Amino acid sequence: METQISAMYSLKKDIFVNDSKESLTGRKYSNNSSESTYVIFSPYVEEVGVLGKFLKIFETHKVNLLHIESRASSKISNRYEFVVECSPGGDLGSVIAEVRESSEYFNIISKNYVDNQDTVPWFPRRIRDLDNFANQILSYGDELDADHPGFTDAVYRKRRKYFADIAYNYKHGQPLPRVEYTPEEIDTWRTIYRNLMTLYPTHACKEHNYVLPLLVQNCGYSEDNIPQLEDVSSFLKDCTGFTLRPVAGLLSSRDFLAGLAFRVFHSTQYIRHPSKPLYTPEPDVCHELLGHAPLFADLNFAQFSQEIGLASLGAPDEHVEKLATLYWFTVEYGLCREDGKSKAYGAGLLSSFGELKYCLEGKSEVRPFEPFKTCLQKYPITEYQPVYFEAESFEDAKEKMIKYAQTIPRAFGVRYNPYTQSIEVLDSKLQVENLIRDLNQETQRMLDVFKKL
Ligand SMILES: [Fe+2]
Repeated sequence: METQISAMYSLKKDIFVNDSKESLTGRKYSNNSSESTYVIFSPYVEEVGVLGKFLKIFETHKVNLLHIESRASSKISNRYEFVVECSPGGDLGSVIAEVRESSEYFNIISKNYVDNQDTVPWFPRRIRDLDNFANQILSYGDELDADHPGFTDAVYRKRRKYFADIAYNYKHGQPLPRVEYTPEEIDTWRTIYRNLMTLYPTHACKEHNYVLPLLVQNCGYSEDNIPQLEDVSSFLKDCTGFTLRPVAGLLSSRDFLAGLAFRVFHSTQYIRHPSKPLYTPEPDVCHELLGHAPLFADLNFAQFSQEIGLASLGAPDEHVEKLATLYWFTVEYGLCREDGKSKAYGAGLLSSFGELKYCLEGKSEVRPFEPFKTCLQKYPITEYQPVYFEAESFEDAKEKMIKYAQTIPRAFGVRYNPYTQSIEVLDSKLQVENLIRDLNQETQRMLDVFKKL
């Protein structure tokens, strides 16, 4: 193998590594790399002279090369890959078709990717990698802003530190620590619980109203009890595979969304300050358990949430920001159409007595959920939203999200493998072919069952 590679390097030197403005075919070309197209591929067949065969394809279709390099494959051990910079002009479409046909994997990539593959941001590949986020938080425990209702309350701040330490020390696979809430904390929960229960029948979406009684039956939801994260997480796992894990502070959008790719929701466990039970400047256990948890038991909503997470993995920063905006206007503040009426499914609404009324009682602006437009909307964090976005259904929102996600520039696809609880990076034909074969087998099995019914 080494001999082959060095042979190719010498070929590369002879032909391409110069700053000449004239190519093999004698055509003039631009060496402005911003106009170039970069491709990466690995030949199916490894043999002496294989590079020459590929170069012939470029020459035949009059596509000039500014740079070519071979290196160890980043995807298949003991194999190599070529990165080629093509100048504008020639029949690049035909080149791509022919090279792709003869390659184990083939991708058109960005210049950043060529310059430094590390520019693809790190993302968790295994579910236990989420443990890394525990020490990547933007605030911790008793670090409260000066305008926080608990800012001058030393007892409350100590309690916040207690909850933060639980989350900080949590590791994947452990049971979620149970907490004994104080009578004062339960009083705060009761106030919120009672108020919201009066609105849910008329203001919440049918999925939320369907699941809530199940949480009462299975997880100890009542006005006199703050449910335990462990019980809610086990319930959700049975329904959709979603699980909760405690979080010590505010995560970056990238880290938070990455959790959703694994159907993991980072949840706070502390409760808001008792002085203002109907207001909180940040998520708390009421927001998580009354707003978020019921919807994660719904299959379509769970899939929708996971789609946002999968789309974020390895995406450029500006696209993660747009996905965070889409998350905000759906999972946090989303509305959906139900029998001709607007209903709330966003957790920020379903956990706020005031905003739930404000939003659905004719005082707010509502626009249709269209990811390409919604992702550009600015929003305040601690005030009522100036605009809300309404989906036709979770199914419809999911389809739109999938289409939107396809426009995010990534040189690979991702897929969650629920058996291994890991993210599979899809960047070779072989992988996709294997997946298609598995799907075909599964389809055949279903057709056989269908015939028996
Ligand atoms: Fe939330």
